[in-house]
Amino acid sequence: MEKIILVTGGAGFIGSHLVRRFVNRYPDYSIVNLDKLTYAGNLLNLKDIEQKKNYSFIKGDITDSAFIDELFGRYCFDAVIHLAAESHVDRSIDGPMPFINTNITGTVNLLNAARSRWTGIQEDKLFLHISTDEVYGSLGDRGLFTEETAYDPRSPYSASKASSDHMVMAWHHTYKLPVIISNCSNNYGPNQFPEKLIPLVINNIRANRNIPVYGKGENIRDWIYVEDHAAAIDVIFHKGKTGETYNVGGNNEWRNIDLVKLICTITDKKLGRKPGSSEKLITFVKDRAGHDLRYAIDNSKITGKLGWKPSVSFEKGLEKTVNWYLENDRWMQGVLTGDYKSYYRKQYLDR
Ligand code: NAD
Ligand code: DAU
Repeated sequence: MEKIILVTGGAGFIGSHLVRRFVNRYPDYSIVNLDKLTYAGNLLNLKDIEQKKNYSFIKGDITDSAFIDELFGRYCFDAVIHLAAESHVDRSIDGPMPFINTNITGTVNLLNAARSRWTGIQEDKLFLHISTDEVYGSLGDRGLFTEETAYDPRSPYSASKASSDHMVMAWHHTYKLPVIISNCSNNYGPNQFPEKLIPLVINNIRANRNIPVYGKGENIRDWIYVEDHAAAIDVIFHKGKTGETYNVGGNNEWRNIDLVKLICTITDKKLGRKPGSSEKLITFVKDRAGHDLRYAIDNSKITGKLGWKPSVSFEKGLEKTVNWYLENDRWMQGVLTGDYKSYYRKQYLDR
């Protein structure tokens, strides 16, 4: 094998798309997927590649420093692509501690292990940290997040991710660990846990349940198809410069209410329902605490310097996404467990 790569969080939404891409495109790379399998991790996401020779799965927790150290002793990793995280803003508002533990302490455990195993042999090594545009805070009506935008996180989730980014850069500047950070905007596509807006809306339409829109639905997000994000990570991994940060975004801003209406239209058509029938399910609910108004990425650094650009139009991507959720009922029913039902009740019904 040319390289042994540790991917953390590979059973999650973005991680599973990234693992599939690397396993299929790079038969000479051995991909070791480390995942705790929290509520968000799902091995069904990787069913199609689990038998591949260059893929292996290890169940484990990045907050367990002894385990991480032992793992880095067992394998001579050439690179780490770190995605494992607690990722949902609403859950972080309800209970910040898992975010502090996994996103900050877990990241530092990985940095420490990489540092101690790579001492003196750092040249061809890479620690690629997958982060979010939420570290930059909230934009007004105008402007874009660039790599120079000052960090200004507002939620426990984004503060924990910002903190992890600072740790990654601290390990680079202090210990010369070869690192890169990518900060991406909102992903959508197959295999996303239905706590996030797009799969939640599709699932509620399918079940004829109210569609909860926070506040007035005026908040804006910049959406990117998950496979475009995986392609960006691939390009950064192979062509990115150590010590740098790359913003990744879809140049695709949508007001939540407009997006929800578009999903209603596409889903009604697919389900053969009367046009306009699902829009009646839209319900404006209490706003998210500290709800960031707008995110939007300036992706000119990655497009100009590394030659990546988003390739999936929103029209195509959203249609593929709606189709996938409606056609993969086994996947959906598998994640709509008792845990999900109690989360849903607490988040939407008992307020
Ligand atoms: P996700 O919640 O779908 O998946 C997270 C994965 O991490 C799960 O498989 C989970 O089991 C695993 N995990 C959680 N805690 C762990 C622990 N302690 N040890 C080992 N594994 C653990 O998240 P996602 O949406 O796929 O996001 C992946 C990464 O990308 C995160 O770091 C997130 O901050 C970042 N990101 C996400 C988006 C987005 O729109 N979803 C955008 C930009 C960046
Ligand atoms: O920007 C990148 C980030 O995007 C990632 O770092 C996060 O991991 C990811 O979860 C996502 O964060 P958001 O908070 O933007 O995503 P979410 O899908 O939770 O919400 C999108 C928008 O929709 C946001 O403005 C809140 C709103 N919303 C969300 C839910 C779940 C609703 O109006 N109703 C809802 O029920």
